[in-house]
Amino acid sequence: MVEIRPSGFAAGAEVVGVDLAQTVDDDTFAQISEAFDTYGVLCFRNQDITVDQHVAFSSLIGELEINYNAHLYGIDGSPEIYIISNITEDGRPIGSRRAGDNWHSDMIYAEKPARATMLYAVEVPILDGMTLGGTQFANSAAAYDALPDTMKQKITPLKGVFDFSQRKRSVPPKPEVAARYPPVAHPLVRSHPNTGRKSLNVMRDDCTGIADMAQEEADRLIEALADHIVRPEFVYQHNWQKGDFVMWDNCTVQHRAILDYDLPQRRLMWRTTVKGERPV
Ligand code: SIN
Repeated sequence: MVEIRPSGFAAGAEVVGVDLAQTVDDDTFAQISEAFDTYGVLCFRNQDITVDQHVAFSSLIGELEINYNAHLYGIDGSPEIYIISNITEDGRPIGSRRAGDNWHSDMIYAEKPARATMLYAVEVPILDGMTLGGTQFANSAAAYDALPDTMKQKITPLKGVFDFSQRKRSVPPKPEVAARYPPVAHPLVRSHPNTGRKSLNVMRDDCTGIADMAQEEADRLIEALADHIVRPEFVYQHNWQKGDFVMWDNCTVQHRAILDYDLPQRRLMWRTTVKGERPV
């Protein structure tokens, strides 16, 4: 018997009664899919899964991406799993430490950004009983709904420019990686592929301009909309427990990791990413 327990915040629900180590039947999957479209973020607590089980469940949502850094932080034999971690072994990081501490929607710089992302908590940093390393989610559909009509009308025909080589990150992308992602324009207001619900598709670091708009004016609009999306009333913070499996819908929510921990507090996550379609 599956139970969906809403977080009570702008996004997120817990799914109770599903063991992801077992095959998920069609009826259960239909309930999960409906809850996913409704809440944008789903958490399955107390899971104990293998790499193969992670990949098998994620693949029910769609075809999986292989990250461009899989050669560095993938798992041997399972390149669909990308390791996010602050742990080093033999002096080398075993995963990506800074996988997304800025607000973002996964792979929004690609022509076809990621549809969904799944993160499984293998190790969670705990300092004197306090859990660190949470992940925040901002509901960009609720943020769109809350805009005044004049702003909705203004931005509906506009397209954001996502130029991977220009995005504001502490470490600039390697030229060969930037070459994989030429600049692309996506609607500032996109529609959910299943429900049609509209959401804001703009963030400070990845949205580098607006098509046919002067840079200064575009920057002001991008910043105003991006800051609106992450207002506290639209945000849910997931505080991880070991064994949590969290999946999020990149059309409905933006997210960021909170880097408030360091060794000896260890964080180890396995991530899969589901391919998506061009936003419309
Ligand atoms: C991500 O942005 O994909 C990772 C989020 C996290 O590590 O909490």
